[in-house]
Amino acid sequence: MPKIIRRERLVPNLHLIEVEAPDVARKSKPGQFIIIMPDEFGERIPLSIADWDVEKGTVTAVFLVIGTSTNKLSRLNAGDKVPVFVGPLGKESEIKKYGTVICAGGCFGIGAIYPVARALKEAGNKIIALMDVKANYLLYWEDKFRAISDEFYVSSRDSYYDCKDYIPTVLKNILKKGETIDRVVSIGCTYLMYTCAEATRAKKIDTVVSLNPIMVDGTGMCGACRLTVDGKTKFACVDGPDFDGHLVDWKELFSRRKSYFDDEIQSLCHWEGKNFP
Ligand code: FES
Repeated sequence: MPKIIRRERLVPNLHLIEVEAPDVARKSKPGQFIIIMPDEFGERIPLSIADWDVEKGTVTAVFLVIGTSTNKLSRLNAGDKVPVFVGPLGKESEIKKYGTVICAGGCFGIGAIYPVARALKEAGNKIIALMDVKANYLLYWEDKFRAISDEFYVSSRDSYYDCKDYIPTVLKNILKKGETIDRVVSIGCTYLMYTCAEATRAKKIDTVVSLNPIMVDGTGMCGACRLTVDGKTKFACVDGPDFDGHLVDWKELFSRRKSYFDDEIQSLCHWEGKNFP
């Protein structure tokens, strides 16, 4: 069973997990994801690959603690083993020289967008990194992003950084300055990606989002991750996770993501009741 090399809390409620998985590390590409199970009773959790190290044979992901399975995952430590760790899954992000690319990330998406931004930089693009956090203490990997960005902005609701506007407003303000932006990549919660796509729609700037619908198998067999893009049914796990943000049926995606909301709350209450008497 794959062994955890590192599990640490990056900021409140967001954890990093590094797993020994040499075969996955060797094949990982920016934009792909893995599926992990914290134990044999947990769900299969899809997590974007945030980094990998071919020499060490490890793969790193950043996850938000939100339900029972991610709570379980957050309590594992170096040396523990997980029953399922599969990947890399999904298509890799399209990386080429576009010109100027804005990489907009928030929450777990800050980790997820990092390898994409790094690869885009290596391909010769100018990178404008926009990070969105609710408060200054929720930002992580600032040094890593500053090292690969030509411009780096943080929007934080507490005004600690550059501004406190939600990130699509920052995005719109940059677009208003008149600099040619050739592409926007946005990764984070569904609302962040939706609003970023809306912010660029009028100017028709290519906007790529990495979608995170509910997944089960992650290999195109179960249909759980289906969504509609440009009027056609797609499976995020095999056709994505990257899609054109202007063509996604966001209303359907928001609705499908809520399918098990009540069950998730019940499950967490039940599990916490057992674990925190
Ligand atoms: Fe089953 Fe995508 S997760 S088809």
